Amino acid sequence: MPSGPVQSTVPSGLAPPGAPQEPASALLPGNDALAEYAAATAACTRCRLSEGRTQVVFGAGDPHAELMFVGEAPGFHEDRQGVPFVGQAGKLLERLLEGIGLDRSRVYIANVLMCRPPGNRDPQPDEIEACEAHLFRKLELIEPTLVATLGNFATKLLSGKPHGITRVHGTPQDATIGGRRVTLFPLFHPAAALYTPRMLQTLEEDFARIPALPERGAPEPAQVIRLPLPPPDPAPGRPAEQLGLF
Ligand code: URA
Repeated sequence: MPSGPVQSTVPSGLAPPGAPQEPASALLPGNDALAEYAAATAACTRCRLSEGRTQVVFGAGDPHAELMFVGEAPGFHEDRQGVPFVGQAGKLLERLLEGIGLDRSRVYIANVLMCRPPGNRDPQPDEIEACEAHLFRKLELIEPTLVATLGNFATKLLSGKPHGITRVHGTPQDATIGGRRVTLFPLFHPAAALYTPRMLQTLEEDFARIPALPERGAPEPAQVIRLPLPPPDPAPGRPAEQLGLF
C-alpha cells in the first residue's frame, strides 16, 4: 500500500497539531499524517458529544491496513480506554478475525462517531454530520482496499444509500471513497449479533467470505489510448522512407 507523505488538513473546530490531550490510539507508527490527524482531533468540539466524553476514540490498528472496519460509536469501555471495540462486541470481532487468520494489528478499526453518545444511544444525524469528515480523512490516509461496515450507521453513511443492513449485508458493493475505488462489505454489527443466534450465524458466514472478496483500491483507471507502433528502423545503408503525411 502506498505510504507517501500526505498533507493533513485540520478542519475548523479542532485543536492545532501538537495540542495536548493525545488519545492512546494516536500511537500510529508508520503513518505520520494519520498520527498528526489523530493529535489534531483529540480535542475536537464539533458536536455536543465532546462534553460528555472521557476522550476521543480515533481508531486503532495497522495505519496502512488493506481491510478497515467501521463501527458505530464508542461505548463505555471504549470511551475509558480510548480504543474502539474493546468490550463484548470487540471480543466477538476479535474471534471473527481469528476465524479468517487475522487479528486487530493487521486491520484498522474505527467508528462513524469518535465520541461516546450518552447511555450508548444511537448517533444523531447532526453528530454524524459533524464527525463524518474525520472518518473520510482516515479513509484517505489509510487507503484500505476493503471497507467492512458494521451495522446500519456505517453502512448507510459509506454507501450513501438508505438501504438497511438486513437487506444489504454480505453483498459487496463498489464504492469510490476519496477518489479511490474500494469494496464496501456491509456486515451485521457484532453487538447486535451477540444476543441473536441467527444473526451471529449470518455474521460468521458473511465474515468467512472476506478473504475471497475482489481486490480494489486502485485509482479510477485512466483511459488507455493505443498508439500505432513506430515503423521499424531502415536496414543499414538504405535511406529512410519519407512518411506520407496525407
Ligand atoms: N460498538 C461500536 O460500534 N464501536 C465500538 O467501538 C464499540 C462498540
